[in-house]
Amino acid sequence: MAPDRSRRRPSNAETVEQILERIRATRNFDFRHYKRPTLHRRIERRMAERKCKTAAEYLALLDRDPAECDALIASMLIKVTGFFRDAETWTLLSGKVIPQLLAEKRPGEEIRVWCAGSATGEEAFSIGILLAEAMGPAFQNQEVKIFGTDVDEKAIAFARHGVYSREQVKSVPAGILKTWFVEDPTGWSVRKEIRRTVVFGVNNLVSDAPISRLDLLLCRNVFIYLDGALQKRVLTRFHHALRRHGLLVLGKSELIPFAGKIFESVDQRRRIYRKDGRRDAAVAQERLVSLLEQESMALAVDEGRPDLTTVDQVHRDIVQSLRVPMVATGPDGTILRWNAAAAALWGRSEEEVTGKKLPALTLPGLAGELLVEKPPRSAKARARCSAAGESSTAAAIIRRSSCRSRSPRSGTPRTK
Ligand SMILES: C[S@@+](CC[C@H](N)C(=O)[O-])C[C@H]1O[C@@H](n2cnc3c(N)ncnc32)[C@H](O)[C@@H]1O
Repeated sequence: MAPDRSRRRPSNAETVEQILERIRATRNFDFRHYKRPTLHRRIERRMAERKCKTAAEYLALLDRDPAECDALIASMLIKVTGFFRDAETWTLLSGKVIPQLLAEKRPGEEIRVWCAGSATGEEAFSIGILLAEAMGPAFQNQEVKIFGTDVDEKAIAFARHGVYSREQVKSVPAGILKTWFVEDPTGWSVRKEIRRTVVFGVNNLVSDAPISRLDLLLCRNVFIYLDGALQKRVLTRFHHALRRHGLLVLGKSELIPFAGKIFESVDQRRRIYRKDGRRDAAVAQERLVSLLEQESMALAVDEGRPDLTTVDQVHRDIVQSLRVPMVATGPDGTILRWNAAAAALWGRSEEEVTGKKLPALTLPGLAGELLVEKPPRSAKARARCSAAGESSTAAAIIRRSSCRSRSPRSGTPRTK
């Protein structure tokens, strides 16, 4: 008889949120923007393993057993990986992407690669091997740095050893195995010529600073677990992390329309993108929007404090630095920010317009489709926003919503 999982299923979405909140409070790991179906399945699996019949029972277990919290986090971070996973992508990397990247480099110039969400390291070594094969003896002379990072410490500790079982190296072509691995009693170790170039470290894509000045960034099969808002935030960070003309490779099932907006598509089907520098306005706008969502800034605006918080100052600086005319308003249309480009376009200074109602200014050329409202909550509002984002190179209006947001620390709704 099939096991009755319904009794173990976390009774409702609220219980799952409580579990995520518990993890955030005790482990400082924020799963709020991870897709729920995977998290639900993983929680159910842990509940079954620990023989908890109800979510309340499981919550109590999390409270008294810190090891269970670790086990749950580890299980929610799915670490399926392999050498040269999705062969077609690697064929394209070795046949087109890497030769092009090398052709654009001067002899001896540094090559920087980041493998983000590299789990147990197979992907970082795979790219190292392809570079070594493509570069020949120059691989030893040129400064090649490959950073393999993951949020899972155990996975990174494993990767640092660079030793894999027979099963794990099954996907490695025989010629590569012979050339770049050494068999020893514990398994197959990656040759030191490759290991020397690969540095592994713990990095959380959500909260840690990204690695910078990259020529190539692989982040495959990580975005599938993130919701749309977090996908955008991480992609925006990646955009900043890449050098001009730097390349980004996503997983084959990760078709993210926003990636196509801020990067040039090199191979749409294999999810390979290039930073072309022509879409910086879209990136800056997204950065601004995510800043607007931060509670501390909302607090400062809501309470009408005369002094600027640090976040508010950063926000103000970003708005000012944009070449796109940018206006931020309160929910009732009161102007809060007005950048230099807006001042130049409409011939009015920030001091002159701050505190005035935007519609009352009847600004020429300000069409309805240029309006961006944040944060959109309904699917309809989201669709409207994304359409507006695409056509907002002439001017953008960010309007703070009157929705109550939740305090990130306490999770309690904030009141005016
Ligand atoms: C399915 S594996 C992908 C491994 C490899 N990139 C591949 O495609 O074979 C997803 C990895 O993303 C990592 N991950 C999930 N959330 C992360 C985050 N916020 N920061 C860094 N890594 C994260 C997980 O720990 C896991 O190792």
